[in-house]
Amino acid sequence: MDTAFDAVTVGRHTLRNRVVMAPMTRSRAHGPGAVPTELMATYYAQRAGAGLIVTEGVQPSAVGQGYLNTPGLHTAEQVAGWRRVTDAVHERGGVIFAQLMHVGRIAHPDNTAHGSAPVGASAVPAAGTIVTPTGPQEFPTPQPLDAEGVRATVADFVAAARNAVDAGFDGVELHGANGYLLHQFLSTNANRRDDEYGGDPTGRIRLVVEVVAAVAEAIGADRVGLRISPANPYNDIAEDDHRETYLALVDALNPLGLAYLHVAEGADTEFTPVLRERWAGALMLNPYTPGAWTGPEALKLVERGDADLVSYGALFLANPDLPRRLAGGGPFNTPDYTTAYGGGHEGYTDYPALPDQG
Ligand SMILES: Cc1cc2nc3c(=O)[nH]c(=O)nc-3n(C[C@H](O)[C@H](O)[C@H](O)COP(=O)(O)O)c2cc1C
Repeated sequence: MDTAFDAVTVGRHTLRNRVVMAPMTRSRAHGPGAVPTELMATYYAQRAGAGLIVTEGVQPSAVGQGYLNTPGLHTAEQVAGWRRVTDAVHERGGVIFAQLMHVGRIAHPDNTAHGSAPVGASAVPAAGTIVTPTGPQEFPTPQPLDAEGVRATVADFVAAARNAVDAGFDGVELHGANGYLLHQFLSTNANRRDDEYGGDPTGRIRLVVEVVAAVAEAIGADRVGLRISPANPYNDIAEDDHRETYLALVDALNPLGLAYLHVAEGADTEFTPVLRERWAGALMLNPYTPGAWTGPEALKLVERGDADLVSYGALFLANPDLPRRLAGGGPFNTPDYTTAYGGGHEGYTDYPALPDQG
């Protein structure tokens, strides 16, 4: 029987264990230019004991930013900033992928340097509000991507993936989950297009397939992962036919030979084994745990063969040495969500590791 603490080969890399640090936006790229900082290098290096670190969502283009102080991967300064992060993680023997996250309509012009309207699949705003420097404001109506905009978006993902490699990342995870741009295209409420990128599942998966295929072609499929979250309504997403849509998606992606599929599981937990069966490659699972964070019991997913890797968000935020703590049965620091986004060292790099035992 495999355990979560056994090494595993995923795509191009051999990981020392199967405990993954899930992507978490921390909004600490303060200062002009959305450049990763030295403090971010410290934070990720502290967590290098993960089998794989997936970074916070990183915008592949200026228009792909939605939240305050999130880092990018579209300028030379950002590449240089990330190089400090990847060097620090590699010095500790870690493996690190950048999560490329284009937010689409989950944005506000007050949060970005360019200050222009967000883009989306269709002119349908998300219900709800987003935090801005002057407080929460309603989501604006996005500008629908035209044919040229779609092409430019694919090209931006490719350029950012190449930048990730230049910055020393071991690969990229494409963010197709949680209501951001790629998920907006997959959905039946944010995507009302009548061109080849909308309509039935074949149309709605098209942008995701094009982005994944183009990035895989550019840097090698064996260092590209995709994150999806079927049946997750977060960020005002509705999916009337999620099973049909995601099965069409995995069928289209299987021939590419990606490093992994990362499933942020939604309420339809019975769909996960169906996806597992249909997906030809490695499956990383972030299990559905409403009202709680993923805990030690998730290690059984690997032991039972329900997943190849398991990803931890909140517990990794609060426990820099999480794999070691899981292996020893705890104890665990408690995550403090009040310091999750923005700020500095506090609630970021000051969670203690367990003392070394002789
Ligand atoms: C502070 C915070 C920021 C997050 N940011 C992202 C993100 O940038 N990209 C993403 O795909 N998921 C993001 N998530 C979701 C996590 O990756 C994970 O799916 C979620 O926390 C549930 O897992 P858990 O119970 O282990 O925390 C975030 C979660 C938290 C707590």
